[in-house]
Amino acid sequence: MVATSSGRDGWSSRTGFVLAAVGAAVGLGNLVRFPAEAAANGGGAFVLFYIFCILLIGLPIMLSETLIGRHGQASATESVKKMAAESKASSAWTSLAGLGVLSAFMILAFYCVIGGWVLYYIGIFVSDLFQSGVTGGALVGMTPDDIKAIFPGLLENGGLMAGLDAVFILVTVYFVARGVSGGIEVASVWLMPAFFVLLLGITIYGAFGGAFSEAVTYLFTVDFSKLTGPVMLAAIGQAFFSLSLGVAGMMTYGSYVGRDVNLAKTSTMISFADTSVALIAGLCIFPIVFAAGLSSEGGLGLMFDVLPHAFQSMPAGSLIGLAFFVMVGFAALTSSVSLMEVPTAWAMGKFGLSRHKAAGIVASLALVLGIASAYSFNAISGFHPLGFIPLFEGQGVFDALDSVTAKLFMPIGALLTAIFVGWVADRRLIDSENGLTGGLHQFWRFLVRWLCPLALTAILIVGIFPSVL
Ligand code: PFF
Repeated sequence: MVATSSGRDGWSSRTGFVLAAVGAAVGLGNLVRFPAEAAANGGGAFVLFYIFCILLIGLPIMLSETLIGRHGQASATESVKKMAAESKASSAWTSLAGLGVLSAFMILAFYCVIGGWVLYYIGIFVSDLFQSGVTGGALVGMTPDDIKAIFPGLLENGGLMAGLDAVFILVTVYFVARGVSGGIEVASVWLMPAFFVLLLGITIYGAFGGAFSEAVTYLFTVDFSKLTGPVMLAAIGQAFFSLSLGVAGMMTYGSYVGRDVNLAKTSTMISFADTSVALIAGLCIFPIVFAAGLSSEGGLGLMFDVLPHAFQSMPAGSLIGLAFFVMVGFAALTSSVSLMEVPTAWAMGKFGLSRHKAAGIVASLALVLGIASAYSFNAISGFHPLGFIPLFEGQGVFDALDSVTAKLFMPIGALLTAIFVGWVADRRLIDSENGLTGGLHQFWRFLVRWLCPLALTAILIVGIFPSVL
């Protein structure tokens, strides 16, 4: 264990923190959601605006979250409480972190179900590799209809999904229970470099497959007429999901950072790495999809349906398919570890539990909700827990967890963070933590006080009343 100035377990180095935070940020959002959103929202125009959003909204909020945590050196709720007390503000502000803890737990529950799907595809490509060999194509002997049936077949099988979910949660809790420097940091320090090697390897391989320039044109040709209101809002939402903001995650990770670290610099590095991965993921996935003559599709279908078809027609497809899903698994695991750490740190601080106990309880509860999510695709698909609210009508447990967090809790959490840091907290505390000086400091303050709250309010309004657009 490496102790921070407050005596708690903490990151062993600045690099350890940056890798862990990049691990938290880089996940299914970069690999699945970003390419799918870019495809659905006009390609280049979306991508350009997304980059603006990272710089002007994501980055300032990431700095705000990490500085609250670093100042508090405690769980997210304790850190906000401390800063509110020192700023003579109401302790009710603590609820902004409480909401984040709840959101992280809810996202954890369905994120691990998707992690289980990734394990299933790893299994498919491993057995495929044994059958067709390293140089063989993937899923040999299967017709396109057979391949198309894989994903719906999995969604029909609640028991299998629940079992795979349990395995993914077990791997996650293994790292969380081992602590910050001995578990979470170790996972990130090994898995993130391996992830980058696989991502670059597959991208370079795909680039030689032929459709690279088509993908570049698709992602980077900006047609400004496509920059409409809904496209801009989709870009803000994506920027912010991808950086893991609004769920107290960066507050929790920030609380393990030592005083000597410049948070403005690390926030910039984390945002840069996350954005680069999203762009490279686009340049990895689209050439493969286009080379196979397939069209891009939104949502989870891009990864779990379109890509397996593409791997079938690719040389060494079973090997590349396996490498691809292992890479996705690594990214999903470092994100699920960050999601589990938030409620675990909270329970340790709130109830004085040991790390092992707190992590065990969080994992068990996430499994219960995960099992309900898995069965919401089949046995209990008619159960709509929030069906009485028009926004969540017709949504089963899995979909409801996803949309409540993405459309409501995350933007509300980030909005409250911006207001708290920009308007409520004592300015001297903020200035002593943020690592900024001069004009950059003024600019950051302007963004946190004005642009971030306005943009987040717009996301909330459109999320709740889609008909306004
Ligand atoms: N940023 C993650 C991704 O892009 O997949 C998703 C996520 C992880 C959101 C952790 C929130 C979080 F706390």
